[in-house]
Parts: sequence; C-alpha cells; structure tokens
Amino acid sequence: MSVRVRAAMGSLPSYVAGRKSPGAIVLASNESPYGLLPSVAATIEGLTSSVSRYPDMTATRLVEAIATHHGVDARQVAVGAGSVEVVGQIAAAVVEAADEVVFGWRAFEAYPIITAVVGGHAIKVPLVDATHDLDAMAAAVTGRTQLVLICNSNNPTGTAVGADELGQFLDQIPDDVLVVIDEAYHHYADPALVPDAIVAFGDRPNVAVTRTFSKAYALAGLRVGYCIGHPELVSAVRKTQVPFSVSGLAQECAVAALGDSNEVERRAAMTVAERDRVAKELAVLGYDVPPSQANFVWLGIGEKSAALAAHCEAGGVLVRPFAGEGVRVTIGLPEENDAFLALVSAWSSSG
Ligand SMILES: Cc1ncc(COP(=O)(O)O)c(C=O)c1O
Repeated sequence: MSVRVRAAMGSLPSYVAGRKSPGAIVLASNESPYGLLPSVAATIEGLTSSVSRYPDMTATRLVEAIATHHGVDARQVAVGAGSVEVVGQIAAAVVEAADEVVFGWRAFEAYPIITAVVGGHAIKVPLVDATHDLDAMAAAVTGRTQLVLICNSNNPTGTAVGADELGQFLDQIPDDVLVVIDEAYHHYADPALVPDAIVAFGDRPNVAVTRTFSKAYALAGLRVGYCIGHPELVSAVRKTQVPFSVSGLAQECAVAALGDSNEVERRAAMTVAERDRVAKELAVLGYDVPPSQANFVWLGIGEKSAALAAHCEAGGVLVRPFAGEGVRVTIGLPEENDAFLALVSAWSSSG
C-alpha cells in the first residue's frame, strides 16, 4: 500500500476483549456478571423497532438524566460511545501534536493508544506499591503538559487514591492543564476512602470526571460513557464526538439504568463482598493482593502471569494476564469465583 499511515500509532492491546472460548467463565474484562438490569431489559424490548432510525445526535434526554443524577448543569455533561471514547474525545479536544499527556503506569491500557491517536507524547509515571505516585506525577508535569489522566480506582491494580491526596495533587497542577479523573469503577469503591470526584472537585475548572455505563450498570455491549466538566471544555468535547456514536437504544437504556439505582447499588455491594472474599482466599494461598476498590483483583506475580492465565484458560476460566507484570481477575458470580480459586489453588500447590 502506498498510502502513508502514522507511524506513532500504538499497537493494538495484546488482549482484545471478546469471546474466544465459548462456554468459558469470563473474568477478563471487568464486566458485571449479573446480566441486564430489569429496567434495561424492559426498555430494550420496547425499542427494537427504533433501530431503523438515527438517534438523537445530542442525546438530550440522556444528558439531562445524567445532569439530574449528579446535580449538575446539563452544559457540564458530554456523552460518548463508552468512556473510552469520551477520554478520546477529551484528548482530541485539548491535545495538539507533541503535547505531553501524563498518566500512571500501569493504568488503563487505552491511555497510551488515545495519546498516540491524537499525536500526543505519553509520559508514563511508574506506580509505587501498585498505586498512583501522585508526587511523581505532579513532578512530571511540564510546560508541555496538556492533560493528566488519573485512573481512580486504577485498572488493572484496583488501588485508589484518597480525597486529601488527590486534592493536594490538584493544588499543584497549573490551571491550564486539564486533569481527567477516570471513575469507571466508582460503584465498587468505598466512599469513606475514595472520593466521588464530581462532588469533591467538580468546582475546579481544570478537572473533568469520566464515568461509564459498562461496569455497575451492566451495559458494556451498548457502549455509553460520559464526562462531567466545565461547560467550555464540555462544549469542545461534544464537537469531537463522532456523530451519532451513541445509539438510540444505548441512550434509552442508559436513562433506564440511571433510574435503577437501588438495584445497581445492591449488585455492586454483592460484587464488593465477593471481591473481599476472593482477596482473603488469595491471601491465604500466599498472594499479596493490593486492596481493590474495583470489581477485580490484581495478582502481581510478574513472570508467572502468562502461565497462571494459561492454566486458568485450560480449566475454563479466562483471566487477563499482563505479560511479566501480573494477572487481573474480574469478580464474577460466587461459583465463578470459586472456579477461579480452585484453579489458582491447584496451580500454586503444583509449584
Ligand atoms: C479505567 C477504565 N476507564 C474506562 C474504561 C472503558 O469503559 P467503556 O466501556 O465505558 O469504554 C475501562 C474499561 O475497562 C476502564 O477500565
């Protein structure tokens, strides 16, 4: 092919979420194990004929529902096809070629991809004890930094930083640098330990918060996420959205899911209880599991990661290895978690 393609583009993630083993227990993509929320199932049934039409491009009903849910102005809300797209829209709105984008590493693997797509320069600040090193991140901000991404709770390690630490960090960041706090796992975090950044820092014009419907709301396949930020930023972020990227079905299901708060909280509490049980059992097996504020746990087993993942896959359980670093295991139904624990126990005792 003689068409020029951009060399700076990153490679595809080593693991592309999807179904590669029919029938396997999938603990690899941090999805909800509980299936559709009842309100969403009813909404889908009532809307099947709507897919022959284009959706509302401005997603007005959804934007207003999100604004009401968080007690903010609708001008502060932008939506996209998943929060990964929203983070990409934000980057497209604020990052120009060679601008620096600072984030912890390892964090969500889409961050370097998004940075490369907009021509930015990724500054990866190593985690310490599997947790964001906010002092080092603040020190990494230079005159060329345009954007800082904080994954709180962090994917894949599950750790989170608290309100005081985050506030002190934000105090050090210049007003013209945007800080995005990615709260994809908000519903699984202990509110006594992890701030709701929309409430805690929403009044800062250089802070935006992203959320998703893919995790606690169980809508990963429909692709809806959003950000809340300053109206001027949000206006720019809306302009970078691919037109119609959030389908009408997705918009209506997200509105229904927002209205199902009790059930969402009930399910999140079940996941948290299971997460803590799994973490305890892993500790008994001798694993050092960092405290998770998400719907997954992290086993930082380094070079053994691929072998454990292969062992689990052979036993019918898909987990997510990060070669040479660790294995991330999504919390599923109790019997799914038991299947994983039995595999890891057998693997540990085999040497
Ligand atoms: C930290 C983080 N942010 C964003 C996302 C993307 O979610 P979405 O499905 O809304 O694009 C994920 C998905 O795993 C994630 O872990």
